[in-house]
Amino acid sequence: MSATINLEKKHFPVLLDEIIKIISPRYSGTFLDCTFGQGGYSEKILENPNNKVIAFDRDAKSIKLALKFKNHFKDRFEFNNKKFSQIKNIDTKNVKAIIFDLGCSTDQIFDDEKGLSFNFKGKLNMKMGLNNFSAHDVINKLDKDDLTKIFKFFGEEKDARKIALRILEARTRDNLSTEDLVRIINKEKKNYNYKINKSTKIFQSLRIFVNQEISELIYGLINAYKLLPVNGYIIVITFHSLEDKIVKFFFKNYAEEKKVSRYLPSSKHINKIFELFNKKVIIPTEEEIKTNPSSRSAKLRYVKKIKEGANFDEFLLKFKKFLEIEKIGRKLW
Ligand SMILES: C[S@@+](CC[C@H](N)C(=O)[O-])C[C@H]1O[C@@H](n2cnc3c(N)ncnc32)[C@H](O)[C@@H]1O
Repeated sequence: MSATINLEKKHFPVLLDEIIKIISPRYSGTFLDCTFGQGGYSEKILENPNNKVIAFDRDAKSIKLALKFKNHFKDRFEFNNKKFSQIKNIDTKNVKAIIFDLGCSTDQIFDDEKGLSFNFKGKLNMKMGLNNFSAHDVINKLDKDDLTKIFKFFGEEKDARKIALRILEARTRDNLSTEDLVRIINKEKKNYNYKINKSTKIFQSLRIFVNQEISELIYGLINAYKLLPVNGYIIVITFHSLEDKIVKFFFKNYAEEKKVSRYLPSSKHINKIFELFNKKVIIPTEEEIKTNPSSRSAKLRYVKKIKEGANFDEFLLKFKKFLEIEKIGRKLW
């Protein structure tokens, strides 16, 4: 039986060689691919006949491909149509690494039903799968202050308030579609960086909010730590600065020795639970970016778990504001 299944794919797996370099010389075993997508990582990991992959993806469209994997790799492959914040109750005896390749795949970006891009026309959506509300609900139902917070904190959009105000004015007449939103943004944004489309930041903020990407990442990382046996690896690829800030803090903060108080020297070492590799982040080579331009913003960070018993209160506190903003979504459930 061949090790690959030769599928026609639009998605190039990002930093694949670097991922394989991290995991393969060390051992064979079970790997959790938390973002199965087009199966690029899973397929490569399964080339080693001693490896098993337990995969997750929130997008129901992954199920068809996952079935092909199941037929081909049999017991060495398992798939769960679940969000990665829910990775629990798995037999993790032999798990060697848990991998997250965040964001969306090229197939999803070109899927007009999902409407992830500002180039599409029609009803706003942006749901990757297993969502409670869509971008249509956000743009047409939330008030000005809520929209401002989403655009400002998840998109770092300088004109957040002005754009939120225009949305409120426009929607008294209509239900706003993707092209209406793009028109409002184009009219409202006078000064902008010509290298990126005027709509990029607002669309990014909506995608993060609709898919609750901040809480997904934070609880995904915490659960990965809890599941992973000592000596296992957590490997994450991020694509925007907010994701990267969260991963960097999680890895760096818990890879350091800390004193709780200078009056209590014996309570040192409470929180060093990771060994951090590559203090400098790993990024794609120029050659990879040339073949796959959408890899240009990718950043890879990884750690080895060295201890059980961590307490993540500080992590949750650090990103409390972002978690609170995502909770605005509960108004739409
Ligand atoms: C960048 S793609 C992964 C590509 C994959 N590494 C490959 O080589 O084909 C990200 C995938 O993660 C999925 N995803 C994003 N957030 C998720 C979450 N919170 N839980 C589960 N899957 C998620 C998306 O649906 C998408 O299929």
